[in-house]
Amino acid sequence: MDLTVNRLSDVLGAEVIGADLSRQDDDAQATALHRALLDNGIIVIRDQHIAPDDHIAFSKRFGELSVHVLTDFQLPGYPEITCISNKRENGKAIGIADAGRHWHSDQAYERIPAMGSLLHAQEIPPEGGDTLFCNMYAVLEAMPESLRSRIEGKYAVFNYQREYNRLKSGNADRKALTPEQIARTTGATHPIIRTHPETGRKALYVSEGHTEYIKGMEDEEGEALLQELFAFSKRPEFIYRHVWQPHDLIFWDNRCTMHNAVPYNPAHTRHMYRTTIIGDVPV
Ligand code: SIN
Repeated sequence: MDLTVNRLSDVLGAEVIGADLSRQDDDAQATALHRALLDNGIIVIRDQHIAPDDHIAFSKRFGELSVHVLTDFQLPGYPEITCISNKRENGKAIGIADAGRHWHSDQAYERIPAMGSLLHAQEIPPEGGDTLFCNMYAVLEAMPESLRSRIEGKYAVFNYQREYNRLKSGNADRKALTPEQIARTTGATHPIIRTHPETGRKALYVSEGHTEYIKGMEDEEGEALLQELFAFSKRPEFIYRHVWQPHDLIFWDNRCTMHNAVPYNPAHTRHMYRTTIIGDVPV
């Protein structure tokens, strides 16, 4: 195995050259990629010509996979893979075209949010459709004490349905959530500062897309504090912008990063496959 790991920015992200995720039994490769993920927050594994089975098998090395609540957008035959795509077949959307168009950490609205997610580019537009990633360790470490002291020991409530309904109003392919989907997305409460279970480092854990309010501060003061945290975390020095290359597969760590998908010209196709690994209860 000959892997090259190159940093992509000063704040987070590395590209890995020389990996082949179709080598399902390659333990040394998986260990090296795991290390690179912990060190860099996100890794861009270049040039992956792999089958959905390989994508799933590699993801499963890191934990149980979650089946996305929007089951209409599964890759047929692979419930663990969600299509993020603007392709249509027989007039019907086969993927979520506007997935992740807000700052978020995956499944923060669940009691046990995602450890990591793996997004594999099948077809990318000639321009646009970039993904932004934010280093939430760096955000917390750079935060002025006057702000940090106001969130120490505090918890926030996370919500899925509010943002889903906002996106639904601009996308007819997003149907009203079924009673089962509503029951699965009732929200969750998590610490605003969480400790990464593997690195032991602390990171900010709130995001515009899914954080609804600060527990015990369901008022203007709490909302103003959240807005201050959102504005601080979106500063350019904490963000890496990924411009996709064909066959990139990005593995991001949801416990210390958040991400945001940038819109693109819908005349072009953007077609991606995603798996999501279930993590731990944040502490
Ligand atoms: C997501 O949030 O999983 C979507 C990211 C992207 O499509 O760039």
